[in-house]
Amino acid sequence: MPAVGYGVGIIGGHFARLWNVVCNTTAFLNYRRAERQKKMQIEPNTFICADSIEVLREIKDKEFDLCLTDPPYGIGRDGSRFSTGSHGGRKPYEFRGWDSSIPDAAYFDEMFRVSTNQIIWGANYFTRHLPAKMCWLFWDKGQRIRNSDGELAFTSFDTALRVVEYNRVELLKDGAVHPTQKPVALFVWCLLNYSKPGDFIIDPFCGSGTTAIACHKTGRTFLCIDKDEEYIKIARQRYADLIAQQDLFRQNEDGAQNTSEGRGTAPNSASMQNAQVELDLL
Ligand SMILES: C[S@@+](CC[C@H](N)C(=O)[O-])C[C@H]1O[C@@H](n2cnc3c(N)ncnc32)[C@H](O)[C@@H]1O
Repeated sequence: MPAVGYGVGIIGGHFARLWNVVCNTTAFLNYRRAERQKKMQIEPNTFICADSIEVLREIKDKEFDLCLTDPPYGIGRDGSRFSTGSHGGRKPYEFRGWDSSIPDAAYFDEMFRVSTNQIIWGANYFTRHLPAKMCWLFWDKGQRIRNSDGELAFTSFDTALRVVEYNRVELLKDGAVHPTQKPVALFVWCLLNYSKPGDFIIDPFCGSGTTAIACHKTGRTFLCIDKDEEYIKIARQRYADLIAQQDLFRQNEDGAQNTSEGRGTAPNSASMQNAQVELDLL
């Protein structure tokens, strides 16, 4: 009998040690999970100069309502030797090398992890990283010339495929400052149709900041990332110019109100924003 009791004691001891190891391992894994969840706090309307994968990895799951972006297509269009068009057209740009390859799978995994929905321009170059979806977009550039008639975007939406037409000369109106800049009107259209006012939008390949401009015009907030300091400077400047221009517009309006002896009411910011969006879409 004492031998049996001794045996049970040994087994009980092993079991207790094993149980301890299980508890400690679970506690350690929970701690690691909690550490991973302690992600970066992001201020709305921020520009960050960095390789976007470094920033994306610090962001909480589904922090953003929409990822609206235009990654490198891997076709060497990060510069151009000549300007086009007899009246200036597109200017020449120094080659900077960022369009030599497409982002790898990790970027797409992260973009899908941090956002609820996605609109990704140039998607015909990234099909190996994208799921099959119903709602692709076709931007018709409005002219049938030597260059391509349009561009394609993947979206995560299960709605009808759409064609949207904005003439490529829209860019001249915007003032092109980046070799592969998208028209503001096109991104405004995307936001008005595939997001809501107040939504938080991320663009991990923001270039000249077209997403930031479109967000401001439609009442969305944004995080814009680009690894090129020069482009981030341009993006910040475009955004600052837009705000300064709106402030000036507001001041002029207030001045006009004051000199008309209080006739009429000052436009609120929502109506100004709508007016601005409509103006841009004309
Ligand atoms: C197609 S352009 C975006 C143009 C933008 N839609 C616009 O309207 O100006 C792609 C941008 O991605 C940036 N880029 C490339 N690789 C990157 C990376 N790993 N992290 C962050 N930005 C990157 C490039 O510097 C370039 O400005």
